[in-house]
Amino acid sequence: MWGGDNKKKRVDDMVDWKKPPRLFIPGPVKVNEDVLQQLARPTLGHRGKEYSQLHGETVDMLKKILFTDQNIFLSTSSASGIWEAAVRNCVGPDETVLATCCGAFSDKWSGVAKSCGKNVDELKVEWGTPTLPEMIDEKLTTGKYAAVTLVYNETSTGLTNPVYEISKMMKEKYPDILVFVDAVSAMVGLPLHFDELGWDVVFASVQKAFAIPPGLAVAVVSNKALEKSSNVPNRGYYFDFQSFAKMAAKNQTPTTPNVPHIMALNYQCEKLLKEGMDNVWERHKQMADFVRAWAREKFDLFCDEKYASDTLTTVKNTCGINVAETINKIQQKHNTIFGNGYGKLKEQTFRIAHMGDITLDDLKELLGWIDEETA
Ligand SMILES: Cc1ncc(COP(=O)(O)O)c(C=O)c1O
Repeated sequence: MWGGDNKKKRVDDMVDWKKPPRLFIPGPVKVNEDVLQQLARPTLGHRGKEYSQLHGETVDMLKKILFTDQNIFLSTSSASGIWEAAVRNCVGPDETVLATCCGAFSDKWSGVAKSCGKNVDELKVEWGTPTLPEMIDEKLTTGKYAAVTLVYNETSTGLTNPVYEISKMMKEKYPDILVFVDAVSAMVGLPLHFDELGWDVVFASVQKAFAIPPGLAVAVVSNKALEKSSNVPNRGYYFDFQSFAKMAAKNQTPTTPNVPHIMALNYQCEKLLKEGMDNVWERHKQMADFVRAWAREKFDLFCDEKYASDTLTTVKNTCGINVAETINKIQQKHNTIFGNGYGKLKEQTFRIAHMGDITLDDLKELLGWIDEETA
């Protein structure tokens, strides 16, 4: 089918693999060559002692990175799988979840919870504005909810919710209500002290600030959530926390894991710990400050600066540039892409990632090219 006279365009005709596209979309992001090399290492049998060593080392490093002594699961899925896992494992049939919605991804998570047959109430705020502790407090005071879903960093609007303040309120007033947090575009790029925050499930996929190609998700599950899941029916098969916990005790996963990705994760975790998490977060902040200063001067920020994310910036297209055309031109000339606005924010905004192994020099180059195209 692919040989001989076939004139169909193939990916190899489109991509110069020696000079791959430079990605500034908010995931997948740029992956360095040394990380890619980890994915090319010979594989290991996933029930052997060598794999268990790799798994155990990786989990131990993740515990330090995420400030937890609780359960870490490596899931061969994208993060959306853990959206489903959190609600299927930890919300009973007679219980109701409060889904906080502040953008496209938090909206989707609410939809996923409903599609799993859970009772869901939504707490919606306008896109680009944060979900505040008092808003959640007002809902929880009804006594109706068993769990709350939060998105730490809304990748559609470039907004970081005040999750530390929310968690403080929840720990003081609602210690029994479970807290599920999507940290997909936050984990590693923003502070995350899991045990101190009192969260129950948090997760991310590795194609964001871990700077690894897509194909693996990291989840932290509290002992409380794990215990609860043992009594929740219809947890399903692939994302059953009980199976994950059983196999995690042997430093393994319930099904065949994405071993090459775990090698890359192990490698990235070692680098992160060497750098120190305070320095990693500061590096993200410096990149964000640089992009925000540029955005404010030339355009504007989509959300209030107080809540603007340190891992990506959603720029408000105040100059009315043709975003798709600008992306296209920069792709043609410089083999580089950044993100259009997400969903209903297309053309009204555009998004620039500054996370993982992207550097300040990378960003200077990109912003220079955007300046050139929009002068
Ligand atoms: C905040 C957020 N949540 C969830 C997802 C879905 O993650 P995945 O594509 O890894 O399933 C994304 C993807 O961009 C995201 O940004």
